[in-house]
Amino acid sequence: MRIELQDTNLFVEQVGDGQPLLLIHGFPLNHEMWRPQIDTLSAKAKVIAPDLRGHGQSPPTDGPYSMDLLADDCAGILEALEIDQPVVVCGLSMGGYISFAFYRRHPELVAGLILAATRAGADSVEAKTKRDDAAQQTEKHGPQSVIDSMLPILLAPQTYQDKPDLVSRVAGIMAQTSSSGMVSALMGMKSRPDSTTTLRQIKSPTLIIHGEGDQIIPANEASAMHAGIAGSKLKIIPDAGHLPNLEQTQLFNQALESFLSELNT
Ligand code: MLT
Repeated sequence: MRIELQDTNLFVEQVGDGQPLLLIHGFPLNHEMWRPQIDTLSAKAKVIAPDLRGHGQSPPTDGPYSMDLLADDCAGILEALEIDQPVVVCGLSMGGYISFAFYRRHPELVAGLILAATRAGADSVEAKTKRDDAAQQTEKHGPQSVIDSMLPILLAPQTYQDKPDLVSRVAGIMAQTSSSGMVSALMGMKSRPDSTTTLRQIKSPTLIIHGEGDQIIPANEASAMHAGIAGSKLKIIPDAGHLPNLEQTQLFNQALESFLSELNT
């Protein structure tokens, strides 16, 4: 379905009933990266999976897309869907950066947090320079330049070997993002604030989940968030890289299912 917001419209898949579970995708992906979660967890929860502006079936708008803007888009979606109870917010990587912004801006809407393959810190000076380079390359050569640089490090070595179909599927999802969407998201991530101080403020039940072999955000970032968020749970997934929800679907879904069922007891 399409949801009208003030300055744009966004594609959202909503399926299932029960505890609302908002799935916020990573860069430069879209709701399709959550297919195994949408299909399984919708038996137990009301799954809401948007395409962020400029990604998938949601059109680009003028950038940059700050994490605050994307978090407010998510809140706008919940309002438009008339969700009348707090939601579990599950964000992967850039989706995690957005989840921190969502928590700061809309804490009353959060029943629980799932922080997947993400980090609390802001970009280093070096990382900011890389964002500028990636944006320049994308403007010159189109989205394929981001795909070519990210795809070889996105997944665990085991995944490239054992699941070539998954590698092609992920490349296909990335290819649905426009150059403009990519550049606007890169610039938004580059200027995101440090969320380290937010960790101490988080009072909602929190699950931190990370691939052991993540080459984009190392697993020690997950341990640091676990140490910072009182009462949080940490699940490290073996034989998984930056997309543990696709690389080790069963383990990832089990972790989410038990988090959701503990929340409702
Ligand atoms: C993502 O997967 O969303 C991105 O790799 C995050 C980032 O570039 O910091």
